[in-house]
Amino acid sequence: MKQTFWMGMVLAAAVLGVRAEAVSTTIAAHKHLGVASCANSVCHGATEVSAKAKVQMNEFAVWQEFDPHAKAYQTLLTAESQAIAKKLGLGPAEQAGVCLDCHADNVPAAQRGEKFQIEDGVGCEACHGGADPWIASHVEAGHADNLAAGLFPTEDPVQRSALCLSCHAGSRDRMITHRIMGAGHPRLSFELDTFTWLHPHYTVDDDYEQRKGRYDGVRDWGVGQASAAINALDVLLDPKAGWHGIFPELVLFDCHACHRPMSGKAWGPRQGTGLGPGVVRLNDANLVMFRHVLAAVDAGAAKQALDFNRRLHQATTVDRDQTFAVARALREQLVRWREATRATEFPAESLGLVLGSLVADAERGEFRDYAAAEQAVMAVQSVVVAFEGAGLLDDTAAKRLQERVDALYATIENDERWSMTKFTEALRAARAAAP
Ligand code: HEC
Ligand code: HEC
Ligand code: HEC
Ligand code: HEC
Repeated sequence: MKQTFWMGMVLAAAVLGVRAEAVSTTIAAHKHLGVASCANSVCHGATEVSAKAKVQMNEFAVWQEFDPHAKAYQTLLTAESQAIAKKLGLGPAEQAGVCLDCHADNVPAAQRGEKFQIEDGVGCEACHGGADPWIASHVEAGHADNLAAGLFPTEDPVQRSALCLSCHAGSRDRMITHRIMGAGHPRLSFELDTFTWLHPHYTVDDDYEQRKGRYDGVRDWGVGQASAAINALDVLLDPKAGWHGIFPELVLFDCHACHRPMSGKAWGPRQGTGLGPGVVRLNDANLVMFRHVLAAVDAGAAKQALDFNRRLHQATTVDRDQTFAVARALREQLVRWREATRATEFPAESLGLVLGSLVADAERGEFRDYAAAEQAVMAVQSVVVAFEGAGLLDDTAAKRLQERVDALYATIENDERWSMTKFTEALRAARAAAP
């Protein structure tokens, strides 16, 4: 009986294209030796970038000094965290599993080596996987052998996005709920390319691309959008993670659909939803963005994605069964489109196409919802960096364009003072300064 149930689950998973294993399981598959095991001065604990080694070798120093992941556990000791945990009735935040799952490398006790310390926060092995099987061999071995030995493929945008999103959006196995938000946790927002380069302990050079393949920020932006949409659909489709009592999990919805002043009278139509006023909307920011990625990959698919987005929103006004049916079909399609995106080399012309597509959407009022506008700004930044990388901008043009992008960032700085009109103007100005 039990076996038949599991067979059914496995079959369902295969049909849906659901990953067989959650990221947290892959990361915890091998023993974690602790940051101290990587941080020796002749290993990744050098004080300067190495001239000889293929990698920087000062990764530990960069992580410790600049990377907020190193302080993620310390954050749980703050008064802010203690207050959140208290409101949720969790006891001390630094002992609550739900907090530690994202603010530390919370692998089971049996998977912790002698030098492992939970206080190290989101340490090396929280992203690179337990080092036990490969620590002794990884310097001499080639990259493929290291991956085979269990090193997590952080260079792969599909795998990396699943890893980052498991903490930066919350996933079925590391869930952040509206109740946690209600207790005061900051709203989460993530964009793969932008976040990959905020505090890096790595560089991409010829040697990197020889070892790990081509790096393309626009591709990673695109893949990241698809992954975030898939991740959200997975939570929605999960009867345990996606639903509480009579309500679906509110964290999946557009926060500002509910959290806005009643005096605003700010409702207006959005082509991407086709919904009337007064409807709680799913947060579709990543679906909206992925449509603009597809504009450069496959124009027909971009149209289909818009149609899917509308069908999903409409289904939420009917019932749960229809919502699930559309969500499943969309998820399958997204997996295919994500593969097509990963295989795309975005030529310089396509960058203008992406920007043009964003501006056209803005003119139609599609960025009425703050969450999508926030993603659009990070998208513009990735495209601008790609313009620079492709050599399409001289120094003066690059400086002028970056000033306009900074002005665009300023329009999303405060979600409570969000103005679609100001955002649209700033986006238009950025487009005008682009090649
Ligand atoms: C185990 C959970 C976890 C994983 C996996 C993870 N992060 Fe984080 N990340 C966090 C937490 C928690 C913070 C906030 C730390 C703090 O301030 O206490 C954070 C903060 C950050 C910040 C700083 C944000 C800011 O506002 O400055 C960046 C950038 C970031 N993460 C990027 C990434 C990327 C890229 C990945 C994937 C390669 C990733 N993270 C994977 C948990 C995680
Ligand atoms: C699904 C993963 C996840 C869970 C669960 C989670 N956090 Fe976080 N938390 C994050 C990430 C990611 C950030 C950083 C957000 C950013 O800057 O983009 C963060 C930020 C914070 C911050 C703000 C830090 C700062 O530097 O401003 C506090 C405080 C916090 N978390 C406390 C908690 C507490 C307490 C719990 C348990 C009740 C908890 N978190 C559970 C992922 C999580
Ligand atoms: C939040 C996730 C995260 C944490 C924590 C983290 N890394 Fe990384 N690491 C990455 C990502 C993303 C890359 C870049 C993609 C790639 O090449 O794999 C990377 C790349 C690397 C590289 C390879 C660079 C190259 O040129 O190939 C080394 C070495 C490395 N990290 C070591 C460390 C060490 C040591 C620590 C702990 C002190 C650490 N990392 C902590 C995510 C992380
Ligand atoms: C369906 C409507 C709805 C959506 C969508 C929604 N919320 Fe809420 N939110 C509420 C309600 C209802 C409360 C509870 C108010 C109370 O306890 O009196 C609340 C409370 C909160 C609070 C506590 C406010 C306070 O005064 O203490 C925060 C913070 C919060 N939500 C953040 C968010 C974030 C972030 C999102 C999006 C990820 C979100 N909410 C999405 C309805 C919603």
